[in-house]
Amino acid sequence: MKTKAAVLYEMGTPQPYSETTPLVIDELNLEGPGPGEVLVEIVGAGLCHSDLSVVDGTRPRIMPMVMGHEASGIVREIGPDVTLVAAGDHVVFSFVPNCGRCLPCLSGRAVLCESGARANLAGTLLSGSRKFTDAQARICHHHLGVSAFSQLTVAAEASLVKIDPQLPLEKAALFGCAVMTGVGAVVNTAKVEAGTSVAVFGMGGVGASVVMGARAVGAHPIIAVDRLDDKLQFARQVGATHLVNAASDDPVAAIRDLTGGGADSVFESVGHEQVLLQAYQATGRGGTTVSIGLPHPSKIFAISAASLAVEERTIKGCYMGSSVPRRDIPRYIAMYQAGLLPVNLLHTHTLRLEDINAGLDRLAAAQAVRQVITFADNQ
Ligand SMILES: NC(=O)c1ccc[n+]([C@@H]2O[C@H](COP(=O)([O-])OP(=O)(O)OC[C@H]3O[C@@H](n4cnc5c(N)ncnc54)[C@H](O)[C@@H]3O)[C@@H](O)[C@H]2O)c1
Ligand SMILES: [Zn+2]
Ligand SMILES: [Zn+2]
Repeated sequence: MKTKAAVLYEMGTPQPYSETTPLVIDELNLEGPGPGEVLVEIVGAGLCHSDLSVVDGTRPRIMPMVMGHEASGIVREIGPDVTLVAAGDHVVFSFVPNCGRCLPCLSGRAVLCESGARANLAGTLLSGSRKFTDAQARICHHHLGVSAFSQLTVAAEASLVKIDPQLPLEKAALFGCAVMTGVGAVVNTAKVEAGTSVAVFGMGGVGASVVMGARAVGAHPIIAVDRLDDKLQFARQVGATHLVNAASDDPVAAIRDLTGGGADSVFESVGHEQVLLQAYQATGRGGTTVSIGLPHPSKIFAISAASLAVEERTIKGCYMGSSVPRRDIPRYIAMYQAGLLPVNLLHTHTLRLEDINAGLDRLAAAQAVRQVITFADNQ
């Protein structure tokens, strides 16, 4: 079958992307679902900084690739042996498929699924298959098993989470990365307790979701850090109690001052190793620093070795909110529906697929929180 999709053929194209158009809108051939696979019509697909990081080369991936990993859609066809979803189901994608059989899966750490990691690195589905080809018969790889910047996609059933059909699908998309990662960082990774202090660096979709999660579990104070005042005003709307502009103030001194020596849990959701260092320095004795942002793999983060022992510090990595997607996405949706997570506010722009390169420019300039691509032709 045919599908219109945004393909990245080459990383590292210079800005402005609206002129250099690294994402090429092409009509591709899409092979139907094999065993354990599902054809999904995409309804909403969010633009995440991790997409931009593949475009600019910060997260090197195998090329060419159909981008997009934060999405929702409707199941249109199931392959043999699929049991988790049926045609017509509304789904959110998880960007690590989990096999349910490897040791991390059996240990409740779906994010670390070995087969999922292997497939994501190779740009294939969980089965190893690749479904997209372009007009020159070149294979286009899958982005994290999702490839959501396409009218239609094929994914492993292990990449899908069936959701409440009452939830508008444009909003549902945001649960696939920003919300699952940010709220999961609070609930699963740091296990933030009520009344403890939280600081969050970077008020994009991920950091704002950390703030929402912190608010939902009763953390206090919740200190938001960004370099842009409008992002800080936005942070207040989603639950931050204190705001620090890192362009004009020293965020480490400000957080230490506000918390009497450092916050209990500090989250880095910018993707810069220097900001991770600031997050560590702003963490209090006995506290936890959570690394969510994704700098280039060559970047190094150096700390005082003694401080970990003497101050009983913890540094934790957080991938996809340390989530178990089929357990956590329905939970976060229920929290949203109960008014505990203002996810609506994350959705700042709606784009057509054709406007995706301008969307990358807006994201690079931090002028958006979440831009959701909708597929009007699909409706
Ligand atoms: N670990 C995971 O599973 C996971 C999931 C999604 C995204 N990410 C990563 O998380 C990071 C954030 O993603 P996003 O989509 O929210 O990004 P975003 O670009 O929407 O937001 C980043 C924010 O950081 C702010 N910022 C820039 N420099 C800063 C500084 N020095 N101090 C404070 N704030 C600063 C920007 O103004 C912007 O508001 C990226 O590195 C992304 O790749 C990781
Ligand atoms: Zn993402
Ligand atoms: Zn597994």
